[in-house]
Amino acid sequence: MSDYDLMCRQAAELARDSAWDITLYANISALIYESLSDLNWAGFYLIRDGELQLGPFQGRTACTQIPIGKGVCGTAVKEQRTIRVANVHDFPGHIACDSASESEIVIPIYKDGDIIGVLDIDSPVRNRFTADDELGLQSIINTIEKYI
Ligand code: SME
Repeated sequence: MSDYDLMCRQAAELARDSAWDITLYANISALIYESLSDLNWAGFYLIRDGELQLGPFQGRTACTQIPIGKGVCGTAVKEQRTIRVANVHDFPGHIACDSASESEIVIPIYKDGDIIGVLDIDSPVRNRFTADDELGLQSIINTIEKYI
């Protein structure tokens, strides 16, 4: 069981230490990647020039651009909602950056009421992300949204 309370405190500390959003995203991706089990990718896609651009992450090299509305990340932005995918092979249009990925969670990030990107986490284990993971990860995003 992941200790999301601890991770939120660590995220707040990292946020207070970061003078640049990219610095914070880099450390949050590292925090998540080392704190949660069974992950093969954790990172950020940020909206630039009308599409999602790859931001700081941990894991294998990934797709550099994702159009809004495409894949799990682009769909989460278009529909402005968190998407938890138990089996990525069942998600129409899923973009497979790493063929090892089996499940995924994507959480939108907001600044001043506007969506600015997503947190994307992949797992090689099917159905890896529970409702508790969604709540915990949302708390981490809520924490860093206060600083970005
Ligand atoms: N699977 C994502 C693409 C990003 S990679 O997982 C890092 C998607 O379908 O949007």
